[in-house]
Amino acid sequence: MGNIAEFAEPPLPIYSSQDLERRYQRIGTLSISGGLGTVEKALDIELQRFVAVKHPTIDPSYDASAMQREAKQHARVDSIPGIAKIYAYGLEENVPFIVMEWIDAPTIADRLKTGSPLSLIESVMLASDMSWLAEEMAKRGVIHADWNTKNVFWSKENRIRLVDFGIAVGVIDRQQGAAGTLSFVAPEVLDQRTPNLFSEQWSIAAVVYASLVGRGPFDQLESSSLPLLRGKISGKRTRDAIIEGKYTPLANNEEFVQRLRRIDEPLSQARERARAIDAVFTQVFSQDSRDRFPTIQAFVQALQDACGFTDEEIRTPRFPLEESDDRVHLAHIVKTFFPNQRE
Ligand SMILES: Nc1ncnc2c1ncn2[C@@H]1O[C@H](COP(=O)(O)OP(=O)(O)OP(=O)(O)O)[C@@H](O)[C@H]1O
Ligand SMILES: [Mg+2]
Repeated sequence: MGNIAEFAEPPLPIYSSQDLERRYQRIGTLSISGGLGTVEKALDIELQRFVAVKHPTIDPSYDASAMQREAKQHARVDSIPGIAKIYAYGLEENVPFIVMEWIDAPTIADRLKTGSPLSLIESVMLASDMSWLAEEMAKRGVIHADWNTKNVFWSKENRIRLVDFGIAVGVIDRQQGAAGTLSFVAPEVLDQRTPNLFSEQWSIAAVVYASLVGRGPFDQLESSSLPLLRGKISGKRTRDAIIEGKYTPLANNEEFVQRLRRIDEPLSQARERARAIDAVFTQVFSQDSRDRFPTIQAFVQALQDACGFTDEEIRTPRFPLEESDDRVHLAHIVKTFFPNQRE
């Protein structure tokens, strides 16, 4: 890495629309729009594999250097298992684009939409995977700063995939203004402070909470919403709740407590466990980041202990298995050389 800074910034590679279409063939009309980007599934004709192509959504004069920054932050960390691989970026005529690995898995938000929140053990595994990734990225000077249920793909078999480096910050960069996704953002980031591992701890914990119950720990619903509908999240009220520290305890959520209940266990014991989990979240959601856990890993350990899971049950695999032919191969290696490794 040492000498990279000595090279002048190379110009953005420019491709014509024809160049891009020759190489990447759109698959049907599948296109997912986030806040700033639209992601389409395409076939890389030369390498015969699926890719995701991201363009800015809003207007074509979108600041191309922002997407260049995104691509570079992404490329600094994409060799870490669990981060979507980035393959290319450039300008298609005047519009920036990024080509990356297509992730064939549901996001946490997709799972919640189908009404199947993660089980407690899955949520702790997810927490462990996110914590590991955040700390690995930080070693390379990258803070993701936008952990949310749409940027994280997770399944028990394939574990985590993380996307969207649109607002990621390098340790030497200055963050311009507050950014992130409201339900998951720490109060100091709302207050325009630069995200760091303590604000990441907050956001990761908020994603874990949402993966369990389908809404963020501070989400407030529109008062006008009909009781039968789950209601629309009110941005202003959620923002106020974050700043005022109005955390919604899990122990008060009857549906959640029922789900926590193990066979032959009295309800009071499940509620007790929910309270222990609330105590962990309450520490993470301290307004003053110095009152949070010293590391994200320490938060995960406390959560794991409150839930009563062992390290063996939760452990993040060193190399998440791919959804491909490699999977058979890797499974074979794992069985042959690491007979004690979990499935
Ligand atoms: N590599 C990928 N493979 C499959 N789907 C992806 C991929 N990257 C992104 N997506 C989907 O597209 C959505 C939007 O992508 P992304 O989050 O990068 O865009 P964005 O507009 O910057 O996001 P935001 O909604 O946070 O503003 C994601 O939430 C995810 O559902
Ligand atoms: Mg996103």
